[in-house]
This record gives sequence, structure tokens and C-alpha cells, in this order.
Amino acid sequence: MDAIVDVLLICPPNHAFKKNEFLIGSRRILSPDFRKIERKQFSLYPKIKNHGLRKVRFPKTVLTNNLNPDLLNTVHNKITKMEINKAIKNRWSPRAFSDIPVTDEMINLLFEAARWAPSSRNEQPWNYYFVQRENQKVFDDFVDILIGNNPDWAKEAQVLIISVLKKNLDYKNRPNGKALHDIGAANASIAIQASEMGLQVHQMGGFDKEKATEYLKLDIENFEPVTAIAVGFPGDPEQLSEELKLRELIPRTRKELEEFVFEMK
Ligand SMILES: Cc1cc2nc3c(=O)[nH]c(=O)nc-3n(C[C@H](O)[C@H](O)[C@H](O)COP(=O)(O)O)c2cc1C
Repeated sequence: MDAIVDVLLICPPNHAFKKNEFLIGSRRILSPDFRKIERKQFSLYPKIKNHGLRKVRFPKTVLTNNLNPDLLNTVHNKITKMEINKAIKNRWSPRAFSDIPVTDEMINLLFEAARWAPSSRNEQPWNYYFVQRENQKVFDDFVDILIGNNPDWAKEAQVLIISVLKKNLDYKNRPNGKALHDIGAANASIAIQASEMGLQVHQMGGFDKEKATEYLKLDIENFEPVTAIAVGFPGDPEQLSEELKLRELIPRTRKELEEFVFEMK
């Protein structure tokens, strides 16, 4: 069932209602999955009736920009329970990936999400190089660039991405002090978009930067690989080695808000 977020009434205070006067308002309706808010205009006559108030009719002419706080309080119906965005909540970094394919359309949506990330001076200092699993040779080359135990699990992903930072501004080729910040925002957008679609990504700092630079033929004066990103639908942890399985199943932890949020008064 849809939930009414609030009801906004527009009427003059202490208005004496006359014949042929009516009240209008609008109501914002939130869908159960919190994805959609629509605003619906309605004539308040039947609503007021539902709320047990007397029938009210307002003249059309006095309807603009008059907010009656009493009526507003009476009918205001706010959702009190709030939670964070579901895609953020459900995002995590798996090691076990399923063999369900990730389509071209899905991949495009991930990069479309990156495209709309904010960036200093709107420089968008990010480039992405990616390979799909079906391109076995290049896929294996990307896996070879990873280090530590990353190759052990990332080799099962459906797509591998390398995010590359553009170090200098288009503006006079000056160093972009915010580039790392901005590529992080774009990568976060990819991660959240993936989660929204039931996919997950696992970002990796553990890769050989020089190897990646060489493989992608990057101009090191201006470009620097920042992360490798494994993409896929989450898989069965049973397919992992005992050590990786343990890390996969260990509960995720976070600092408390008090540890990193400081209200200044
Ligand atoms: C920039 C960056 C580098 C990371 N490097 C690695 C890595 O090399 N190997 C790995 O297994 N996980 C890596 N991670 C994943 C983090 O370990 C993971 O995000 C963190 O433990 C929080 O877990 P969660 O993403 O499931 O919430 C990296 C994440 C980020 C953002």
C-alpha cells in the first residue's frame, strides 16, 4: 500500500466559508519501496470529511500561497520511520561471484551512474577501461594485473574494470587537487548503481600500478590507475577457499557515527 508522506493544504486562516467555496491541497505519496514520490492534487472536500472535520469550501480566488498552520497540523501525516537508501544499505564487496552474465546494458548503466557523479569544476577526471569475461585473453590479462589474493576470487567476476584518474585539469593543464576525491565519488556511484540492480562490485587497490599503466598504455604525465573493480552478481561462498570463505562470511563492521561526525555549535 502507498504511504501518504504529507498533506499540504492551501487555505486562508479563519476563513468564513461561503457557498461554492472549496479547499484544494496536494498530497505527496511515497511508494512502499521508497523509490517514488508523486505529488497528487486533490480537492479536499472528501478528505476533510474522512478526517472528521466539517465540510469546507474555499473561494478559488484565495487559494494561492495561504497556508493555514492549524489545518496543516491537523491533517499532516508524516512517515516517522526513515532509513538510508536501500542500494547503499545493500551494497557490499563480495568475493564469491555467480556465473550469471552481466549484460552490456547493465554495464552501460554502471558507467552512466559514474557519468553523473559530482566533480570539482565538473572536470570528471575519470576514465574507465573494462573487459567482459567472454573476452578471455584480455580478461586473463586484467586478472594478471591484480596482486595479493585478489586474483583468486576476482577471476570469477563477470566484468573487470580499471578506474584511471586524470591528474591535470583541462584548465591550463594545472594539477587537479580534487581528482582523487572525484574518481572516488564516481566509483561510489558505480557501486551504488550496481547494488540497485542486484549486482555488486568489489573495488581493489591491490593491483600492480606499473603493469596496469603499461598494459593500458597510459600517459603517466597525466593518467594514473586508481582501482581495479570486479563486477558480478553475488555467488555462493562455498565456491571459495576456506580462508576467503571466512572473510566473506565475517560480519561487516563500521565505526559509530560519534567517532567521525562532529557537530559544531
Ligand atoms: C579503494 C579501495 C581499495 C580496496 N582494495 C581492496 C583489495 O585490494 N582487496 C580486497 O579484497 N578488498 C579491497 N577493498 C574492499 C574493502 O576491503 C571493503 O570495501 C571494506 O572492507 C568494506 O567492506 P564492504 O565494501 O563489504 O562494505 C577496497 C576498497 C576500496 C574502496
